[in-house]
Amino acid sequence: MKKCSAHPNRLFTAVVRQHRVIRPRYQLLTLELDTDGSAAFASVKPGQFIEVDVSHLSLPQDKDIPAELLDSAQRNIMLRRPFSFSAVRHTGKSTEIDVSYHVIGPSTVRLMTLTAGDSLHLIGPLGNGFRIDPSRPIALLIAGGMGSPPIQHLAAYLRSQHPQIKVTAFVGARSLNELPFETGLHPDGGIDLPAFSAVQVPHAVATDDGSLGVKGFITQLVDKFLQSPQMQADKTILYACGPEPMLAAVSRLATKIGVPCQLSMERMMACGIGLCQSCAIKTRDSQAEDGWSYRLCCKDGPVLDGKDVIFDES
Ligand SMILES: Cc1cc2nc3c(=O)[nH]c(=O)nc-3n(C[C@H](O)[C@H](O)[C@H](O)COP(=O)(O)OP(=O)(O)OC[C@H]3O[C@@H](n4cnc5c(N)ncnc54)[C@H](O)[C@@H]3O)c2cc1C
Ligand code: FES
Repeated sequence: MKKCSAHPNRLFTAVVRQHRVIRPRYQLLTLELDTDGSAAFASVKPGQFIEVDVSHLSLPQDKDIPAELLDSAQRNIMLRRPFSFSAVRHTGKSTEIDVSYHVIGPSTVRLMTLTAGDSLHLIGPLGNGFRIDPSRPIALLIAGGMGSPPIQHLAAYLRSQHPQIKVTAFVGARSLNELPFETGLHPDGGIDLPAFSAVQVPHAVATDDGSLGVKGFITQLVDKFLQSPQMQADKTILYACGPEPMLAAVSRLATKIGVPCQLSMERMMACGIGLCQSCAIKTRDSQAEDGWSYRLCCKDGPVLDGKDVIFDES
């Protein structure tokens, strides 16, 4: 197979092993990587991402395309699309990754057609993932909507690689319909997300409309937790991925309490490897004349220190 010249050894083939609908327009793909891909993913970090080529995939039948995407789905796919992974499993000879996606436009509509045995080309792992700080043994993981996959991966990674770190997850979405996780009931009567309970990570759930868990923004639950008397600011760190207003709120909370936070940012991406400059993020930079400069989401991120990011509102 032809290798990507900018990133030799990083263009891989993956075979679809499973494809499941989690809820309408939220699907989960399990991909098995080829030998080179499995080797490249041996030391993958939560928060890194892949760029998937869907240009060879056909559209589903009109009846299977969400009505409001019927027009936009016809667009030609020129560029690969970035996706995180919610789980990475290394078996003896190969690696499987789970990609959870929201059907939102022409590429994700085409992904819906994949069935077991189909192949995809992708590049990765790209970008910088979360940097684990062992000096902060209390990790609060905050996920919003389709930003949840890297947080699920991070929860499992911390449990297996850093078992001394106490992990709690806070998972939010606009509504149950926009939560990309299967749900169940905890024996104590609360909401159970098997993605987190399977790795023994306690979790709280909030939805904006109250259709699952507590009604309100997930950051309100985090705020309450941070205000509790047992809170130890000098030992705590926040890791978050989700929509930008949620990340801005997490950054404000971290500043208020005086704890560090790492944020997985999102931008529209073209190349995904630092060449096109299309994914700029405004960041604080004491060396720059104006006190700020741009960093690239794909290459310097997607995970950045919260204290560095300049949000539109600030
Ligand atoms: C690092 C990273 C990780 C990602 N991980 C996932 C993931 O795990 N699962 C998932 O479903 N999606 C993920 N995304 C978003 C995903 O790449 C887009 O939804 C994808 O481009 C959709 O392609 P499409 O052709 O179906 O729709 P497009 O036509 O590309 O997009 C549909 C609509 O969504 C908007 N949009 C697309 N991407 C972004 C973005 N990055 N920021 C703001 N608006 C956007 C577009 O403006 C357009 O209006 C990730 C993005 C990044 C940058
Ligand atoms: S997507 Fe091209 S530089 Fe980031």
